[in-house]
Amino acid sequence: MALDDLLSWLAPASPDADLVRRLDFDRLPAHVAIIMDGNGRWAGRRHLPRVEGHRAGTRAVREVIETAARLGLGHITLYAFSVENWKRPAAEVATLMALLKRYVRSELKTLLSNNIRLCVIGRIHDLPADVQHELAVAMERTQHNTGTVLSIALNYGGRAEIVDAIRAALAQGLRPEDIDEARVADLLYTRGQPDPDLLIRTSGELRISNFLLWQIAYAEIYVTDTFWPDFRRTHLFEALLDFQKRERRYGGVTTASSRPAAASR
Ligand code: IPE
Ligand code: IPE
Ligand code: MG
Repeated sequence: MALDDLLSWLAPASPDADLVRRLDFDRLPAHVAIIMDGNGRWAGRRHLPRVEGHRAGTRAVREVIETAARLGLGHITLYAFSVENWKRPAAEVATLMALLKRYVRSELKTLLSNNIRLCVIGRIHDLPADVQHELAVAMERTQHNTGTVLSIALNYGGRAEIVDAIRAALAQGLRPEDIDEARVADLLYTRGQPDPDLLIRTSGELRISNFLLWQIAYAEIYVTDTFWPDFRRTHLFEALLDFQKRERRYGGVTTASSRPAAASR
């Protein structure tokens, strides 16, 4: 059971264990999406170059992924590089790509031992060939894993994804009457995945920055001022507890099932 597993992993008397005991494991989000933002500002506060923020951010990625797996979350999607991020200085982009490659290679063992399946969403064919190769190896090696699905959004843009979906629809010769919401969802990179229930953004910006535009139609949004390199499992537990207090109505009215569990008890 996820709770026992988690409590044996966390120190039983720790604040994290207290947070986890307050979680309702029957109402965890099926899909958590995270805009990992604030690496540059984290570095700036320490008078370090921006790339040091990206380097420090990989520790947060590691901790969040392992925690997601131990919680038994079905899907977690991390926004790592947007189609707009090519506008950054070439040296920063090159460091991000190098970190990504190294990360995927060094974390493969952790993905395998945690039964995590790796997916990548975005315009992958435009990434450097060595990065594509590393990703392909990790996706292949983890493809039969049955636990958490980790999607990394790379060279990803929500509008680009919709453009690609329309192109795919035209290439398949679909007719107007063939198109409905389910068909559109099927044409997106996230085909087969549930929509995110919870969208987390670190470092305080109140914007979506072209992330999962279609899929977040009814996601609950949680913004924390914490910079991504400082984000730890405690912050993930806090976000999940906050999510469990929300009343989700999907345009309808309050019902017993839309009310948060704590309030209905
Ligand atoms: C997020 O941190 C990482 C990427 C977008 C790749 P930033 O690099 O955007 O950091 P800030 O927002 O400038 O602080
Ligand atoms: C969003 O962060 C993209 C990623 C986290 C990969 P940005 O830092 O690129 O977004 P803006 O520029 O602040 O909107
Ligand atoms: Mg940013």
